Amino acid sequence: MVQSQARPEPNGTHDSFDALMEITRRPPVVFIEGRGSWMRDSSGKEYLDFIQGWAVNCLGHCHDAVTHAITAQAGRLLNCSPSFYNEPMIRLAELIARYSGLHRTFFTNSGAEAIEGAIKLARKWGQKYRNGAYEIITMDHGFHGRTLAAMSASGKPRWNQLFEPKVPGFPKVPLNDLEKVEQAITNRTAAVMLEPIQGEAGVFAASDSFLRNLRTLTKRENILLILDEIQTGIGRTGKFFGFEHAGVTPDIMTLGKGLGGGLPLGALVAHEDVCCFDHGDQGGTFNGNAFATAVGCAVMNEIAKPGFLPRVVQTGAYLADSLEALSRKHQGGGLRGKGLLLAIDLGREIGPVVVAEALRRGLLINAPRPQSLRLMPALTVTHDEIDQMISILDATLEQVTDTRAEA
Ligand SMILES: Cc1ncc(COP(=O)(O)O)c(C=O)c1O
Repeated sequence: MVQSQARPEPNGTHDSFDALMEITRRPPVVFIEGRGSWMRDSSGKEYLDFIQGWAVNCLGHCHDAVTHAITAQAGRLLNCSPSFYNEPMIRLAELIARYSGLHRTFFTNSGAEAIEGAIKLARKWGQKYRNGAYEIITMDHGFHGRTLAAMSASGKPRWNQLFEPKVPGFPKVPLNDLEKVEQAITNRTAAVMLEPIQGEAGVFAASDSFLRNLRTLTKRENILLILDEIQTGIGRTGKFFGFEHAGVTPDIMTLGKGLGGGLPLGALVAHEDVCCFDHGDQGGTFNGNAFATAVGCAVMNEIAKPGFLPRVVQTGAYLADSLEALSRKHQGGGLRGKGLLLAIDLGREIGPVVVAEALRRGLLINAPRPQSLRLMPALTVTHDEIDQMISILDATLEQVTDTRAEA
């Protein structure tokens, strides 16, 4: 039997973590409550949260709109089976259609499940309308989730040899290289799929011109454009959807993370021309349940309020300016990203040490790569909270640099 790695000792009131499957190295902290940009652990320590469940709690922890939607729907109807319509499912699909310009939605329980759905829809479309084409061209370093097909579509180098054999049919090209996409297109190609900003890779954006040219190319070649908006959608970049910056509309998009405001909810959204599933091709016990979709409606209605998205743009600019100044002070590299999905280059591979020291000082922050820090706070984060985050990060970077100089 494989022995799990040595585990950290729990703090506070918890004796052991042994009943949980070991899937990552977690710090010995147990969170018990959260509000807005703050969380508290079982010892009473407070943390400023710039991870927000990996960009999931888009309105922060336990926003009133989310809590009210949860409590109201919990006493009304949870799940009437996906074989029947329910009210919130219809309302949320209408809201997504109104704000995206796409027409139809299939709700999922996670981002990866939305990606699976997108892959299936593109393959079905290829079978019906492109002589059995099934390949989907994806990007090096792209991230689309952890189910087997989503991992196969991802371009994460560390996954290359994992869980072999992969699902075939995902040729990879470099991001922002239109010529390489053109060269990869064959009569087997059904679609091109990418993230408007590669979040897990370290916040690297597809340029607006690349997205526009890709839209023109996919139309000319009669193949589909799939945009994975799981991280960039629902206001994260200052627009409802990341693709709006480039002024393009995909044939298919996937949503997740922010859509449920903290609850597991994703969506496969498509132009009506490509909605070609036959009955029985797609479904799932929990899909489109009234509970999660009611919360999705509450989230969408908050983001659609006048002034909400302009505020994200303005707060994003404030965070970007503050981070750039901090990076200059600590001889870091540049800033990447849009809106409230930002990353700084630390200039050295100190990301994991910075994350650990920041945690000790009460700041939750993420290092998607050893040299980068990623910030994805609540879209409701205040200037004061940004100032507090910068002050903790400043002290953290000073400490880490001093410790390294002494070593
Ligand atoms: C761009 C993108 N696609 C897909 C996923 C997978 O979503 P989930 O973790 O909800 O399955 C993620 C998660 O980080 C993501 O960032």
